[in-house]
Amino acid sequence: MVKLTGYKKIKTAVFISGTGSNLKYLIKFSKTKQSPISINLIISDNAKAKGLKLGKIYKIKKKVFNFRKKYKFENQILSVLKEHQIKMICLAGFMKILSRNFISKFKGKILNIHPSLLPKYKGLNTHKRALDNHEKYSGCTVHFVNTRLDSGKIILQKKIRITKNETKSSLAKKILKQEHKIYPRAILKVFSL
Ligand code: GAR
Repeated sequence: MVKLTGYKKIKTAVFISGTGSNLKYLIKFSKTKQSPISINLIISDNAKAKGLKLGKIYKIKKKVFNFRKKYKFENQILSVLKEHQIKMICLAGFMKILSRNFISKFKGKILNIHPSLLPKYKGLNTHKRALDNHEKYSGCTVHFVNTRLDSGKIILQKKIRITKNETKSSLAKKILKQEHKIYPRAILKVFSL
């Protein structure tokens, strides 16, 4: 697993596509004494991602790569990650699928958060699908990224009850609140494995 070397925090990049609320909580966590990681780079595939504003607020470098030519941009990202001595990647609402080649370069060092109780509801529209199926519970999962979508080893999950009048947006809100808590806890767990 990921081992801490010396007393330095592990330089980490967070990949986002949108709001970046998970990014915000990861940044806050990274600034605590107990955090094994520092966040040194924000990568987005979307120039309009709201989360990019956090880069300015917290003085963290940010880079935007549009993924239309995936392999070309992934190679550019790999160079940037190397340049910044990034050793770990947290995907936080990043809506692109990374290639096998990219993942192999950071094997066991990429984490993702997903808004369902994996292995249920991989992919998109998780909340709608959970409600359509009359699930009693949903939740969120932090897992390692492997080459199959949302299928890597699970690190931590939080289960929440779906209430009677639950809507897609009320469920998303409840789950997101839990995501903010479990992502930092999952990172602590990874470093204690
Ligand atoms: C979160 O709910 C995250 O789990 C989900 O996108 C949202 C991003 O919110 N990720 C995925 O669906 C990945 N397949 P945020 O930008 O506020 O962190």
